[in-house]
Amino acid sequence: MTTTTASHAADLVAALLFILSLAGLSQHRTSRAGVVYGIAGMTLALVATVVLAAQSITAGAVTLILVAMALGAAIGIWRARQVEMTQMPELIAVLHSFVGLAAVLVGWNSYLEVEAHGAAQKHVTSDLLGIHHAEVFIGIFIGAVTFTGSIVAFLKLSARIKSQPLVLPGKNALNVAALAAFVALTVWFTISPNLGLMIAVTVLALVLGWHLVASIGGGDMPVVVSMLNSYSGWAAAAAGFLLDNNLLIVTGALVGSSGAYLSYIMCKAMNRSFISVIAGGFGIEAPTSGGEEQGEHREVQAQEVAELLTQARSVVITPGYGMAVAQAQHPVAELTRRLRERGVEVRFGVHPVAGRLPGHMNVLLAEAKVPYDIVLEMDEINDDLADTSVVLVIGANDTVNPAAEEDPTSPIAGMPVLRVWEAEQVVVFKRSMASGYAGVQNPLFFRENSGMLFGDAKQSVEDILRALPADPRAQAPSEAALAR
Ligand code: TAP
Repeated sequence: MTTTTASHAADLVAALLFILSLAGLSQHRTSRAGVVYGIAGMTLALVATVVLAAQSITAGAVTLILVAMALGAAIGIWRARQVEMTQMPELIAVLHSFVGLAAVLVGWNSYLEVEAHGAAQKHVTSDLLGIHHAEVFIGIFIGAVTFTGSIVAFLKLSARIKSQPLVLPGKNALNVAALAAFVALTVWFTISPNLGLMIAVTVLALVLGWHLVASIGGGDMPVVVSMLNSYSGWAAAAAGFLLDNNLLIVTGALVGSSGAYLSYIMCKAMNRSFISVIAGGFGIEAPTSGGEEQGEHREVQAQEVAELLTQARSVVITPGYGMAVAQAQHPVAELTRRLRERGVEVRFGVHPVAGRLPGHMNVLLAEAKVPYDIVLEMDEINDDLADTSVVLVIGANDTVNPAAEEDPTSPIAGMPVLRVWEAEQVVVFKRSMASGYAGVQNPLFFRENSGMLFGDAKQSVEDILRALPADPRAQAPSEAALAR
């Protein structure tokens, strides 16, 4: 078997491993296997690519590739070991920007190579030259949109810039004009390629990527991240065409289509128009209500909450980003165990975008060994909330905001939320009256049946655990859990 045939066979196996990886990652129980398949596929792909490249380039160039790979791997492992779970989306956004930048560089390199050495050396026949030019342009366009879009997403997710949508006058017309200009430039470039057009499309796409993501606001950011994931896949596929690398085309298409489907599912869960979000908030008007306070709130103490819980018949816990920040999942699991031992029915209500990444709360609760069967999705629990004695809102805010249902002018209007205010009593665990990720004030805090328990969520839950009166039927409280 020649090296080329072996390399093509390796590509095929790697592509299958990537498909198995996606299938594995779609379910909790098989997700570890999914990660292992992904690592195996990527290792095989890298080895096959380098071995094939080594046939046609100098030993010095191979050494350079290996050094670059070792450096990249070292930086990747260092960052992955450091990153907090709550910083995961911003890390993902940065990684997407690298894919976008790589696609832009591949496009530019491909153009300059054809210019310098002629089409024949690039194995492009004159008939296909127009298609090659179009590939260069499309690759650069998708890559540049992904690059700046991902940088804006990173800045918003890491709170380096405000998450509110940027509303330029005529923003939809600007986006449409940019797309029309891209089409016109592409046609022009395929007829008469030149450096000026290359610069024009790169600048146009960089500005468009920035504007598209800057125009999308707080609550829609999860969809934006998965949409940029999709764009990065298409950018990689475009680079695959230019590099004549089948595996890159297949992998890019897998990432592109799965990312697009995830964005679609998330839009449905958030009651958002898919087209509107991918078109940079097309049709979304500037919000008219913001972060102003809306009356008096009532403060409660851990002792009172402990008493309320012991008298409760049923308790629902709705966790959010604050539980992740405080790392309160272990004491929350201990509180659940103690209440269930007393005969209180305890369940969890998880909103599809609670936290900062899909499945964030499920991962934390699984880590703390909360039984799967009491962790319910928003749709499964919402109708039961009216018949619940106490809801504990632990570090959640936007996902339990009644304004989404009641205030059509709210920036999060129409987003489905957990209707916690329908319960007999609600206790909100947070450190201040600050708004959540979307920057919208929450009328829940000012309802008569709501009490605010201020402080770090982990500390507050531990205080409640200490204040819970001993139950003769229960085992001795687990000090280990309290100390965690
Ligand atoms: P958020 O609306 O972000 O609110 C979290 C609340 O936690 C804040 O109001 C904060 O109030 C409180 N908090 C922070 N640290 C705390 C601590 N140590 N102890 C106690 N409380 C603490 O949370 P959510 O309800 O989970 O909503 C998620 C939001 O993020 C949505 O707007 C969603 O669109 C967006 N988002 C989600 C994702 C995904 S995929 N899940 C990705 C990107 C963005 P204090 O500061 O007063 O404590």
